[in-house]
Amino acid sequence: MNDRATNDVAVLVPAAGLGTRLGPGVPKALREVGGASLLAHAVRRIGRARGVGCVVVAAPVGQSEGVASNLQGLLSAAVSLRVVDGGATRQESVAAALAAVPPDYSIVLVHDAARSFAPPELIERVARAVRDGADAVIPVLPVIDTIKQVDADGYVTATPDRSGLRAVQTPQGFRRAVLEQAHRLGPALGEVTDDAAMVERLGVRVFCVPGSEAALKITRPADLATAEQLCDPESLAG
Ligand code: CTP
Ligand code: MG
Repeated sequence: MNDRATNDVAVLVPAAGLGTRLGPGVPKALREVGGASLLAHAVRRIGRARGVGCVVVAAPVGQSEGVASNLQGLLSAAVSLRVVDGGATRQESVAAALAAVPPDYSIVLVHDAARSFAPPELIERVARAVRDGADAVIPVLPVIDTIKQVDADGYVTATPDRSGLRAVQTPQGFRRAVLEQAHRLGPALGEVTDDAAMVERLGVRVFCVPGSEAALKITRPADLATAEQLCDPESLAG
């Protein structure tokens, strides 16, 4: 284990989504739970993770100033904050944030604002695995449900062995040059649903570390009730 005193980690926070599945209202990252925006909850936890020196938020287009003021004072003086305009897709938002990372960071984590309660320990665990030598790292949990593959007519075509499946969370961590290479190729790598899938297509091996139940993605209205519970100060480290 090695958490150097120098801060070598930049964390990108895609926060430009609309939150369509959460229902009408302001963009999801700006919804308030327990007196703070989901984005503020995420950024506060990121700022508490050792090794993090820089946070780059991709804000809903045209709202970067409001977002920057929303986050005022959440980070210690040792952690710098940049806010950029996000894009039309999550991948574009990540690319915009990546382009704004100062030169002196060798490890880049990508962390959804919607996983607002991911604990600092999880962020440190991912960063540490990159620092210890992995090119790409993802936090995972075992799959609880049996998963079926289904065709367009609604018929099951396969039942993958659950013991070999994992549910994937963020933050996902990368050696900076690896993520930059993936984004240079960008659309040529095809549609992806997470950042690791881009580097997998480059042939990079992705290492798994244990995820956290608290890092659930706030997606549907029912998730807001869980979020309220996670706001409990007792849960901050959890
Ligand atoms: N995101 C982003 N830019 C986009 C789309 C999504 O930065 N154009 C971010 C979201 O803000 C969120 C993360 O990517 O933090 C994960 O996306 P998701 O949970 O799907 O959020 P939304 O796209 O906002 O929600 P929905 O799909 O329900 O509209
Ligand atoms: Mg979305």
